Amino acid sequence: SDRITVPKFVAMKRDGKKLSMLTAYDYTMAQLLDEAGVDSILVGDSLSMVVQGHDTTLPVTLDEMIYHAKMVARAVKRALVIVDLPFPSFHLGVYSAIEAAGRVLKETGAQAVKLEGGVEQAEVIAGLVSAGIPVMAHVGLRPQLVMQMGGYKVQRDEEQLMADAMAAQNAGAFGMVLECVPRSSAEKISAELSIPTIGIGAGVGCDGQVLVVNDMLGLTGGYVPKFVKAYADLRGQISTAAKQYCEEVRSGAFPAEAQSFK
Ligand code: KIV
Ligand code: NA
Repeated sequence: SDRITVPKFVAMKRDGKKLSMLTAYDYTMAQLLDEAGVDSILVGDSLSMVVQGHDTTLPVTLDEMIYHAKMVARAVKRALVIVDLPFPSFHLGVYSAIEAAGRVLKETGAQAVKLEGGVEQAEVIAGLVSAGIPVMAHVGLRPQLVMQMGGYKVQRDEEQLMADAMAAQNAGAFGMVLECVPRSSAEKISAELSIPTIGIGAGVGCDGQVLVVNDMLGLTGGYVPKFVKAYADLRGQISTAAKQYCEEVRSGAFPAEAQSFK
């Protein structure tokens, strides 16, 4: 089959093929992205901000992640579907992490989970992997630590980044996100690791790239990080379409004969 499995995803690094990943949170978007050929779809806990309108990624619950992951997995035929474990489900020990990730795999049809962390999550990653649950790690900027950090900053401690990345790989992670790290550090880490690195704000030296889909489509209102490239202006197009619809309803131009039954 055409399906991208975890082993196929990992093999793409060996074959020198760059991996494309985007987030999605519902059926329609996931179907569009899958049909466009994206290699992996992440049901990110960014949905807390992007879909639910919270200020941070902390409020989204496991039940809510599962609800959205079901919609995404239902649509996807080819891409590898990965689901974020929400705060603080994987900080409660290996047992709780397996319980949470087990629910994701049993209930949603997704193939893997992602969690924020490296060195200090090594035991949890190893526990999940021993249960047959593929784990993607997330190193560098970790949005779930926003309260501790007091904001979102580029992570420049290369020694720490390398230690986190190696710990995640040694614990059995099949890949990792590298978020907001200098391009040179990301390049070094990517060369050192045998598993793929997926960068966001980490430069071109990673094995793949990920963006929040709302950001790359120009759907996000307000602040957009420097690392985002907008490939469309859907916010502008949707706004124009909605205004035109309102005008036509008010003027009686819609519905016309074409949209009416005899
Ligand atoms: O939650 C998310 O969308 C993510 C990606 C941006 C990597 O973790
Ligand atoms: Na996330």
